[in-house]
Amino acid sequence: MSTDAIKLMINGVGHSVAGVTAGTTLLTVLREKLALTGAKRGCNQGVCGACTVMVDGAPMRSCLSLAANCTDQDITTVEGLALDGALSSVQQEFVSGNAVQCGFCSPGIMISAHALLRGNRALTAEEVRAGLSGNLCRCSGYKKIVEAIVKASETRP
Ligand code: FES
Repeated sequence: MSTDAIKLMINGVGHSVAGVTAGTTLLTVLREKLALTGAKRGCNQGVCGACTVMVDGAPMRSCLSLAANCTDQDITTVEGLALDGALSSVQQEFVSGNAVQCGFCSPGIMISAHALLRGNRALTAEEVRAGLSGNLCRCSGYKKIVEAIVKASETRP
């Protein structure tokens, strides 16, 4: 059963998406209807965090979020973190700190990191680890990830 087209605001761009049923998840819409494949389908049951996107400023599991419930919300995916072609501080520190192994978890972790970095102070490694507790890295490469986010918290503009 399809609903009428729904309107979603993603990375500052409005989209009209047809063929969305009441049970269609935001992750499915992003990946399969809009070709925004940054958010990854890992566990598809809310455990791994690979599908994390920002909804109205809060990190959310897009595999558990119904797309039809997101119509009045501001959605940010990893594709929307760079501004005017410039990487965000988190993205930049991931690159310069080699904080990516297979890369599958990176988009979700970057979104969670952006939520963590909303305050105005430098974060400790412990705070970053706690903030990333909902994001799993199958390569277990947490050390460089945490270091990159700590550094981003110290160097952000
Ligand atoms: Fe959504 Fe794992 S794919 S939490």
